[in-house]
Amino acid sequence: MDDLERLADDVRRADTVVALTGAGISAPSGVATFRGDDGVWDRFDEGQFAYGRFQRDPEGFWADRIELQRVLFDGEIEPNAAHEALAAMGRAGDLEAICTQNTDGLHGAAADRIAAGGDGKPDADDTTILELHGNAQRVRCQDCGRRSDSEPIFERAADGELPPTCDCGGVFKPDVVLFGQQLPGAVIQRARSLARESDVFLAIGSSLVVEPAASLPRLAASSGATVGVVNLESTPCDDLADLVFREDVTSVLPRLRDLVAE
Ligand code: APR
Repeated sequence: MDDLERLADDVRRADTVVALTGAGISAPSGVATFRGDDGVWDRFDEGQFAYGRFQRDPEGFWADRIELQRVLFDGEIEPNAAHEALAAMGRAGDLEAICTQNTDGLHGAAADRIAAGGDGKPDADDTTILELHGNAQRVRCQDCGRRSDSEPIFERAADGELPPTCDCGGVFKPDVVLFGQQLPGAVIQRARSLARESDVFLAIGSSLVVEPAASLPRLAASSGATVGVVNLESTPCDDLADLVFREDVTSVLPRLRDLVAE
């Protein structure tokens, strides 16, 4: 039995399987990663997009954010085979939850695509998708809280409305957790309880250096879960992991889904 067959066997026998994903699962979809070769943080300074900058200089923040959004999500982005493999595992009842650090909305898009391909109705046992860092496809008014699709608001900003404002006069902010902001308490508590409950915890496409997500694999391991890491580069959790796959997500995850479904 090779490592992937062993992991599939653990997934089949598990009551609760949880995945934590990072930018690497969306890289095959053309979404930029933050670290490693040609990472976003080699091209931009994180401070440009910190919450303090947004509060101090919303106009400058938005001018820079337009460029970042272009680099991150260069045009139309679609779920790839790795997103679809996780969505298929969810539909089959083999994946309880995906905690994603990604703000690209691709896990939701993959789940919708699978649901549409099936009976079109989300099942009760469909996978929970927890967007730990929010969703950059939405913006939110900082006064009235109204959420809106980000595309038309970014168009208005690119046309010179800096910062773009809501009908109520409030300033829009991308609906993401910025550096210097706390994750919503309920979201991180839910992610931590999922890690504790998991029998198998998969850390996929993340450098596992940004807290609080980076501590979830350790929390799962300390609760007795089998931990699998799928990442092209080494991570700080490799030593605690039971299985490490130094391979592309689009190679490992479809094979894992097929083995689990056997
Ligand atoms: N298959 C497997 N792994 C991949 C692939 C791939 N096709 N492409 C990239 N990777 C790996 C890289 O080796 C890298 O270690 O994915 C990892 C992505 O790491 P980061 O770019 O650091 O992304 P992430 O871990 O999601 O960053 C966490 O940092 O800047 C913040 O808010 C931002 O959510 C982000 C957080």
